[in-house]
Amino acid sequence: MAYKPEFLARITERRAALRTELLTLLPAGQSLVWEIGSGHGHFLVQYAQACPAKYCVGVDIIRDRLNRSGKKRDRAKLANCHFVQAEAREFLDALPPAVTFAEVWVLFPDPWPKKRHHKNRILQADFLEAVAGRAGEGTRLYFRTDHAEYFQTVAALIPGLPTWQLEPAAAWPLEQETVFQARAPAYQSLVAVRTSHPARPAETAAPRPPPRVGPR
Ligand SMILES: C[S@@+](CC[C@H](N)C(=O)[O-])C[C@H]1O[C@@H](n2cnc3c(N)ncnc32)[C@H](O)[C@@H]1O
Repeated sequence: MAYKPEFLARITERRAALRTELLTLLPAGQSLVWEIGSGHGHFLVQYAQACPAKYCVGVDIIRDRLNRSGKKRDRAKLANCHFVQAEAREFLDALPPAVTFAEVWVLFPDPWPKKRHHKNRILQADFLEAVAGRAGEGTRLYFRTDHAEYFQTVAALIPGLPTWQLEPAAAWPLEQETVFQARAPAYQSLVAVRTSHPARPAETAAPRPPPRVGPR
């Protein structure tokens, strides 16, 4: 698809700013707990407080939610918890070399319920492959959703991926209700673990329209 030069220039600028921010925030060799779509920060602040040895980074695309998260973190006086305004794929692409994921959390991601919108979902094969490129053997992915069809799709997708496998017996390390969990009448969770299979080299995220917020 051909984009206008002004649009491409804005994206290039945004990605360069993110790279600079992450270089300061994440020293090479840092291993992260990464929460995608951290919302109002309820989970990550609590988790960082419970696990002071873990370095936690949440990303979201909505500024106001990040501001609220930052205030919670400040009130808890945590030095191991950070929030970054970024689209998840752009964050992956902007990570400094040798930064890896110790854990990846995706709690109540936008479900994009209509079939023609499924391409907007964050958990898809190419994304999981790219995450695997920054994850060592044993890294865990924690996924929770109240959208039954999204859950089934991811649960069926993972066994077909060489780089992840379902881990039905894995424990959920910390229960902390999030804003969207509080609204959900029911939800399902799964844990997947990174296998030893090598990941394909990550591709640079193609230019995309500015991220949109899901239908809720
Ligand atoms: C339904 S909310 C869930 C928030 C929180 N995890 C919770 O359980 O309350 C989904 C969040 O993901 C964020 N989001 C959506 N797409 C994203 C993307 N591509 N990259 C980063 N964050 C995204 C939205 O802004 C929103 O805050």
